[in-house]
Order: sequence, then C-alpha cells, then structure tokens
Amino acid sequence: MADIKLHGEVFYPSKKVVQYANIKDWDELDKKAKEDYPGFWESIAAELDWFGKWDKVIDESQKPFYKWFTNAKVNIVYNCLDRHVKTSRRNKLALIWEGENGEFKAYSYYALHRDTCKFANILKSMGVKKGDRVTIYMGRVPEIVMAMLACARIGAIHSVVYGGFSVEALHERLEDSHSKVLIVADGAYQRGKIVKLKDIADEALERAASVEHVLVVKRTGQDVKMEVGRDMWYHELMNMPIANRSCEMEEMDSEDPLFILYTSGTTGKPKAILHTHGGYMVGVYATLKYVFDIHDEDRYWCAADPGWITGHSYIVYGPLLNGATSFLYEGAPTHPYPNRWWQMIERYGINILYTAPTAIRGLMRFGDAWVTRHDLSSLRLLGSVGEPINPEAWKWYYTVVGKENCPIMDTWWQTETGMFMITPMPCVPLKPGSGTKPFPGIVMDVVNEEGESVKPNEEGYLVIKTPWPAMIRTIYKDDKRYEEQYWGKYAGMYLTGDSAKKDEDGYFWVIGRVDDVIKVSGYRLGTAEIESALVSHSAVAEAAAIGLPHEVKGNAIHTYVILKSGFVKSHELAEELRRHVGHEVGPIAKPESIEFVDSLPKTRSGKIMRRVLKAKALGQDPGNLSTLEN
Ligand code: WTA
Repeated sequence: MADIKLHGEVFYPSKKVVQYANIKDWDELDKKAKEDYPGFWESIAAELDWFGKWDKVIDESQKPFYKWFTNAKVNIVYNCLDRHVKTSRRNKLALIWEGENGEFKAYSYYALHRDTCKFANILKSMGVKKGDRVTIYMGRVPEIVMAMLACARIGAIHSVVYGGFSVEALHERLEDSHSKVLIVADGAYQRGKIVKLKDIADEALERAASVEHVLVVKRTGQDVKMEVGRDMWYHELMNMPIANRSCEMEEMDSEDPLFILYTSGTTGKPKAILHTHGGYMVGVYATLKYVFDIHDEDRYWCAADPGWITGHSYIVYGPLLNGATSFLYEGAPTHPYPNRWWQMIERYGINILYTAPTAIRGLMRFGDAWVTRHDLSSLRLLGSVGEPINPEAWKWYYTVVGKENCPIMDTWWQTETGMFMITPMPCVPLKPGSGTKPFPGIVMDVVNEEGESVKPNEEGYLVIKTPWPAMIRTIYKDDKRYEEQYWGKYAGMYLTGDSAKKDEDGYFWVIGRVDDVIKVSGYRLGTAEIESALVSHSAVAEAAAIGLPHEVKGNAIHTYVILKSGFVKSHELAEELRRHVGHEVGPIAKPESIEFVDSLPKTRSGKIMRRVLKAKALGQDPGNLSTLEN
C-alpha cells in the first residue's frame, strides 16, 4: 500500500515505523481476511485461552442475531488477568494511575488479579449471581477497573454509568437494568473540585427501587450519608474475611452477556447495548494489538473515561487482554495547568496516546509552548476517536505533539461496534481527517436512500455489510428495537447512523450523525434526553434541542423552549433551566443557549422537525418542507 500513489494530502509512514510494527503489510492481511473470514478470526481467537472450543466461528442462522464462537466456554477476565499471572507478566505493571491531586498508585498483574478476586467475593457476599446486573458509577479511579472485572469474573453483567451523568440519567439506567447492587464512589476530583457522586446516587436511589446494596468506594473523603443496611464501605469489606483472595472463575458461554452500556439513539430513552464474553474479547484484543501495535514493553494511555465504550474496550479489556501496561488519569487535562498531560507523558514515558479531537483542540488553544517544554520523545503512536478530526487539529497533533514521528490512528467505531471498524494501522498511509479503510476483512460502504453504493466522493449513509466479532448482540430487553433500528432500513446492512464519503482510493471520510444524536466534546447525547429534562421543569411546556458547530466541542447544544402559560421569559429562568438540565442529565448536557419561542416546526403527525431549526440557525435552506404543519 505504501508504494501506491494516493490522491490528496497523504502522510506516508516512515521505514522505522513499518519495521517495528506488528503488521507490516495491510493489503496482505486484508486479502487473507477476505479469503477466509471465519478462519482469520479463528486464528486470532486461538491466541487466547478458552475452557471449551467453539462449534462454529460465525453463526448467521438467526440474523441479525449473529452469534460468534458458538458453544465455546470462556471468561474474558481469565484472559485479562489469570493468563498473565501464570507467566512472567505476573509482576509487570498492569495499571498505573495518577489522581488529579497528584496521588499515585500502580498495580501489577498479580495485584490487579488479587484485588479483583477480593472485590468479586464482596459482590458474591451481597448476593450477586451470574446474570445479575450491577451498576457502577465512579470517576476515573483504579477501583472502577476492578469493579468491572469483578462483575465479569462471577458472570454478573456490569452497567457502567459515566461519572459525569447526574440524577435522572443514573436513575433511568438503574431502573431499566433493574440493578441489584450499585457500586459508587463518595466523590471524584474534577478541575480541582469534588463532584459528590454519592449524593447524586442517593437522590437517584430515591427514585429507583431495585437496588438492595450500595458499595461505596472512598476517594474524596467528605461526609456522606450511609444508609444502614443498604450502604457499605468498600475499604472496610476489603479487610474482612469475606474478601477472600481466591475467587473461582465463572465459566461462561461465549454468547453470555458481559456488559450493557447505555447510549443515546435516534428517539426516546437511552438504550442498553449488549456485548458478550467471547466475540467482544476477540475483536477488542485483535484491534488494539494491530492498530495501536501493542508491544510488551509499551506504556499505553487511552485518555477516555471508563464510563464510555472507548474506556470499556480500550482502557479496561483491550490493554489487559494484550498484557499491556496501561495508564489512567483521574482529572482534567488542564489542571492545574495546560501542561498536565504532557508532564505525565514525560514522567511515565508513555509510548501511545489515544484521545479525542475535542481534547486536542482544547489543548491546542493554549499554544505550543506548554507542549514543547516537555520531552515527549517516548511517544511512538497517537490516536483519535469520537468525532471527525479537523485537518488543522490533526496537523497540530502530528507536528507539535508527535514531532512528525508518530502516525495518528484515527479510529471510527461506536458503542454498538464494540471495536475499531474504520481504522489505519501504523503501516498505512494517512490522510488527515480520514480513518482510512475498514479493519481487514470487514466490508463497509456508503449508500443512497435505496441502499445502492454511491459514486466516489458522494455523500451517503455509512453501512456495514459483514458481521464482526465484537458487534452488538441486541438492545437489552428489546430485540425488536435492535432489529428495526440497525437492520430495518436495508436488508443485510447494519445502519451506523452516520453519513460519510468514500474517495477514489477507498478511504472513508465520516461526516457526522444523520439522526438525533449530538456529539458534544465526543460525548454521545440524544436530543430526547435533553428535551425530556427540560420538559420535566415546571415552567416548560415543550422543548427542542439541536446541535450546532462549536470550535472546541465539535458540536454544542442549542435549545428552543415553549413556556407554560403564567411563566415569563427571563435571563434568570434560562439560567435555571440550564442548571436543571445539568442536575438531571449531567454537566455535559447543559445547553449552550436557550431560546424562548411561541411555536416549534412540526410535522403533521406532531414530530418536531429539528432539521428545520438547524437550517434556520445556520442560515441555510431548510430543504423539503412539504411535511411541515405550521
Ligand atoms: C462518531 C465512540 C468520525 C460517529 C467510540 C459514531 C467518529 C459515533 C469517530 C459513535 C471518528 C466516533 N471519526 N466520527 N474517528 N469515532 N465517531 O457510540 O458519529 O460514543 O457514530 O462511540 O461517534 O459514538 P460512541
């Protein structure tokens, strides 16, 4: 691939990069994967340990309910921990952690295995069994990693709720998953302040009934209310005999659920995306190994939050499956100064940094000097995820951070895909703003309304035409919605919800969402969540939310509100509504603007036409208005 002349601005990998890489010839790998797709994944699966072998690699008999590695017996945690503890990796660092306040912790594979077992035994003592749901609501601390692994070890299904979410978001997720246990931290440090997670959880619990026990991890140490009989301190239980160091591994079927993770969809409430032990494990292991080119001596840092899919796949499971040393940082990139990240890269000798365009743009604003005063020569690879990266940010990242030595892995994927789907590898020539091509063997396309492939450089719907191991299995408790939403538009094609173009070299250029999802600073939010939070305020009759371009955040939320009669528009009321959304959904969902209006554009069936609002705000032509009622 490196010898072929490509169109547009291309950055070819250096000889040094290619020589060092696990995969030196992308085309060869893609050819191999396309010739024998099941065989390709089977040979990767064979690198991991299974308790019992599969009958079939891919079972398409009940599509779109695909199954992978049918009837195989496995537990992802065995491959994350126990496998390494039996080798010379036993004393290798698995996790290095720095708190925002400068605290430091490190865990070897041995230590992470030990504490995960103890944690799992605590959960067992609370009555958690295989198939039970456990909600986890914490900041970026090592215990969140152990909590997830502890659940998986005993076959419980974890449901992590991002620590930046608030009362109603947490309540909704607790209730929908019908969680028996909630694992929460007392608080989290963010930008030098304490976010009182336990207080938020208490309020959510008043609205939710299923939770029997709350396990509280002490992080910030302020006073919290502990309800007798329900709430228990993690550190106290860890010192009791129930927190035994040996904990038997639950033998799972390959297709047994590993976790659910809520994400925003087209309409209505957030949906729980379900992933399984077997296929997810193989997909995440392989993609991290090939794309971020994991070598045993690497120190790898994914700066996302464990509460989102990026954290699940590429902070927790992927690095541990690969036996890597991974770094976790609790706080904000700019605390106390904008050099915090660069300082830590220098301090720990980080080799791989994986982050989001919004973070890059945010740090770029402070100027090059904050970066260049640090020795970042340990860096070998950089990564980007969450939204399209604008070429300007790409080039800054490439030259100022990577010193033109580090290829940028712009990885396109989703909560639903579980693993990278469109992604380069270090040996692949790069074009700023494009994630290059689908992962070897995977077929993706850009199609029109009728499902036909469009011409090169024409915009259309981004679809996936082959199953892949880490694919979503269903929406928890809602098979019908899964079928309709992802496979209902075109037969045999998974609809991503994104629009994209494919250029003459077969490189994909993702443009953005075509549904009611707004990507704010890379976080995925639904217009419905913001609107229902607004409507839950006593002054609001109706509300509409749209995303408009924002220099740092990518998109910002703008809202239109119709007040109930008797309420008067004012700056104070607008501020109160913003606070209300922050309290119900979370600070990330706070609208940038609130405009009071007397009516909203609707279809005759009463659906708000957000695209009309968006076109108007951007001064663009609203397009076809034939369905508009008013
Ligand atoms: C967007 C995050 C362009 C896209 C892993 C997708 C991207 C949504 C990229 C999924 C990228 C993610 N380039 N757009 N490299 N990565 N997206 O579920 O719109 O939080 O559909 O998963 O993020 O968001 P999610």
